Amino acid sequence: MSKPKVVVTRKLIDHAQALLDSNKDLEIVQWDSEKPAPREWLLQNAQNASGILVMLTDKIDTELVSTAGSTLKTISSFSVGTDHVDTALLKSHNIRLGYTPTALTDAVADLTVMLTLMAQRRGGEAMAKVLDGEWPQMPWHPLLMTGPQLGGSTVGFLGFGRIAQATVKRLLGFGVKKVVYLTSRPGEGAREDHYGLLGGGKSEVPIQPAKSWEEVASESDVVIVGCALTPSTKHLVGKEFLAKMKKTAVLVNIARGGVVDTDALVEALDQDRIFGAGLDVIEGEPNVPKDHPILKQKRCVLVPHIGSATVPTREQMAEESVKNLLAGLRGEEMVNEVKL
Ligand code: DGY
Repeated sequence: MSKPKVVVTRKLIDHAQALLDSNKDLEIVQWDSEKPAPREWLLQNAQNASGILVMLTDKIDTELVSTAGSTLKTISSFSVGTDHVDTALLKSHNIRLGYTPTALTDAVADLTVMLTLMAQRRGGEAMAKVLDGEWPQMPWHPLLMTGPQLGGSTVGFLGFGRIAQATVKRLLGFGVKKVVYLTSRPGEGAREDHYGLLGGGKSEVPIQPAKSWEEVASESDVVIVGCALTPSTKHLVGKEFLAKMKKTAVLVNIARGGVVDTDALVEALDQDRIFGAGLDVIEGEPNVPKDHPILKQKRCVLVPHIGSATVPTREQMAEESVKNLLAGLRGEEMVNEVKL
């Protein structure tokens, strides 16, 4: 009898690779590079696969699922986001989906704080001036490169899951004044209290659900996008949202580029309608050419989707992805499974 086939679309970090390789009862077909596997390679190799381990750049759609055929039991995604996966399709085919939502919380929350400070304190603009040799022409003076301050700010979240709550935990140390957040059920509290910050005044800072996106936009000094990309959150931060934000406020996106309408953001920054932005993600990434209009915005800091890019986090994501793949094949409990 032939061995069950698993397809893995990247080379994995040492420990996770060893864990995968130790399964001699599997036929492992793996793209042997850190760079994305071409779609054609994935389609060619998916035939008769029982499991596929993918990255957020690999689309799981009808074409792939039907190419794999009836042997396909499980998809394991090396990510917290699942917007690259047609979840309804997997459900209808009884295919399980593993993901890594807990592994990267701290790393992404750290980066969220970094981007917030960079946007408020004009980090990108300040560094560019030094690198461009402009410092000699701008000796210290009281208003040089001034910006808003995190202490005393109201911070608004779109989406209030683990990463957002881990960010709040950090921001409390900076003396923020208030936190408002919008979930997919406006006006209702978060489904889960991950750090004991919610419900019953456990924190001295008010942390309250907002009734609408308008409330988050108009009240916040910092707006943090932390929600999943779905048809209802696509371009949630668009022209109207940005028009309601304070002129002194900054926008931070650590979720998915598509939640923010890039053209509207460029226009708002260009016209000084908001103070700045800190982005880990952008629509159309990684195709951001040198002449992209967002790169002309001095008050926008853009980094290339590095939210989870710490060594321990990526090691854990890799290990959990392999464990989820194996559990999916064997009908066992995954480390984290999407409830389809
Ligand atoms: C994910 O896993 O979805 C993150 O965006 C990676 O940083």
